[in-house]
Amino acid sequence: METIRGRTPHALDSIELAARLANHQRILLDLGTGDGKFAFHHARTFPSHFVIGVDACRENLREYSRAKLPNLLYIIAGAQELPRELNGLASHITINFPWGSLLESLMNGDPRLIRGLESVSRSAASIDIRLNGGALTEAGTTLENGAWTIHNNLLRAGWQIKAPVSMDVCALRKFPSTWAKRLAFGRDPRAIQLSGCI
Ligand SMILES: C[S@@+](CC[C@H](N)C(=O)[O-])C[C@H]1O[C@@H](n2cnc3c(N)ncnc32)[C@H](O)[C@@H]1O
Repeated sequence: METIRGRTPHALDSIELAARLANHQRILLDLGTGDGKFAFHHARTFPSHFVIGVDACRENLREYSRAKLPNLLYIIAGAQELPRELNGLASHITINFPWGSLLESLMNGDPRLIRGLESVSRSAASIDIRLNGGALTEAGTTLENGAWTIHNNLLRAGWQIKAPVSMDVCALRKFPSTWAKRLAFGRDPRAIQLSGCI
């Protein structure tokens, strides 16, 4: 699978990955990581966790992927085609403020994404999905309806997902991702969180 540091790609195989992950019990997978700020922040705050940020777009990752943290890795991949080297690794998955095909796949219950989430999860893995109003409006629905659609898709796929909970401006301001900050200070600071486990 393809990893990135700055502008430099690197092909990482399962053996190298296993060596990087050694001694880390908790592995967080951040799908649609964007510029990777949330993944970086989590890795720096919890040195005993290993954090893997995944995004289809490499350009935005240049800055944070240069960070020399031993417990942080960025992978270039589509969320619908997660590398099989990740299978069974994730103890926690985050999808923060998805847009584009990532949001579409969550909304449509795209089996490539839904099965991928299951494949990368270890038993009792947990998941947090944060959605924002503008992205759901662009996708042709409302924040609430979109959240319930995704909730029901995950429920059908075997996840135990709690009812959607709204995130207020204060929660968005405190949330350590670039998109959360943009939303908090933007025109439409509405967001919802879905949490659950498999
Ligand atoms: C609004 S940004 C949020 C970024 C970050 N999570 C944050 O909170 O700052 C949405 C991200 O989803 C990524 N994305 C969209 N579709 C994707 C897909 N199919 N696979 C992987 N990443 C995808 C985009 O490249 C973008 O970086």
